[in-house]
Amino acid sequence: MVDGFGRAIGDLRLSVTDRCNLRCAYCIPDETPVFQPREELLTFEELERVTALFVAAGVSKIRLTGGEPLLRRDISELVRGIAAIEGVKDLAMTTNGIFLGGALADLRAAGLHRLNISLDTLRPERFRLLTRRSGLEKVIDAIRLARDADMGTVKVNVVPLRGFNDDEIVAFGQFAREERVVVRFIEFMPLEAGELWSRDLLVPGAEIRATLNAWQPLVPLDPTHDAETAERFRFVDGAGEIGIIAPVTRAFCGACNRARITADGKLRTCLFSLHEIDLKTPLRAGAEDRDLLELIGSAWAAKEEGHLINSKDFVRPARTMSAIGG
Ligand code: 5AD
Ligand code: SF4
Repeated sequence: MVDGFGRAIGDLRLSVTDRCNLRCAYCIPDETPVFQPREELLTFEELERVTALFVAAGVSKIRLTGGEPLLRRDISELVRGIAAIEGVKDLAMTTNGIFLGGALADLRAAGLHRLNISLDTLRPERFRLLTRRSGLEKVIDAIRLARDADMGTVKVNVVPLRGFNDDEIVAFGQFAREERVVVRFIEFMPLEAGELWSRDLLVPGAEIRATLNAWQPLVPLDPTHDAETAERFRFVDGAGEIGIIAPVTRAFCGACNRARITADGKLRTCLFSLHEIDLKTPLRAGAEDRDLLELIGSAWAAKEEGHLINSKDFVRPARTMSAIGG
């Protein structure tokens, strides 16, 4: 399945819930946000069917996201179902880590390959300020547990924000070295309903790289695959790997092979799509696989060329990351 710009679909991100136990200021600014009613969420059966259709269309990488995917009861059962679909080569999850300790063994046994854990600060006070919850210790324990589990390399996602945690870039570089995990710095994107985003808050990838390089020289690493979003580096002495993901200042839309399904069953062909394709309604109305595949195919054919963040025509999507799925 190829879009109008020659990009073949390869990667599917499923948001399994828009709920989250944290309230990161840039993601869920309200203390009591309005979440989707449970009946609006795709069931595991529906998620597995949709995944199988996308795999038939060419997807081989699946990521479960949220919100916080570990809030979805019995999530390991979904992992088991998706891992069993022939053609799924890589099955990963993005989590905030708070509930990972109790779930890791089940997830691994169910066939989860890899984990990305989100963590924006190593300071307990800041963690509380940013997420409006406590739990930094739990997240760090979870990172270590995941690292020591017999799974793929753990990646820690960090969003640097100017004047908030941009003084921790070196500390996270050190964390990558000491803890033997890959730390990936992600530029802050205008994706939140709360309108917090501004260019002043964004820490550009080039600056992150320069900051780390001044501390310990970085050596570029080859991309692991064609649709790699991160520029990868190791430190010159060999210890520690970091990645820099710069969707705003170094857009990688030209190689984007990703589709997203929101928790309420809408297909998005770009994080910044202003238009969504409803899959849930036809799914629940008893549509045949053939019809659903056709719907997916025509949506993919119309995939946006790229985001317009750097253009004056840019319009922010109304949904935040917790509803879209990272
Ligand atoms: N810009 C960049 N990254 C974001 N995330 C959530 N919202 C944004 C944003 N506006 C990150 C989270 C998590 C991942 C799923 O996406 O921190 O690591
Ligand atoms: Fe939850 Fe992740 Fe959003 Fe934070 S960024 S509120 S952890 S979904």
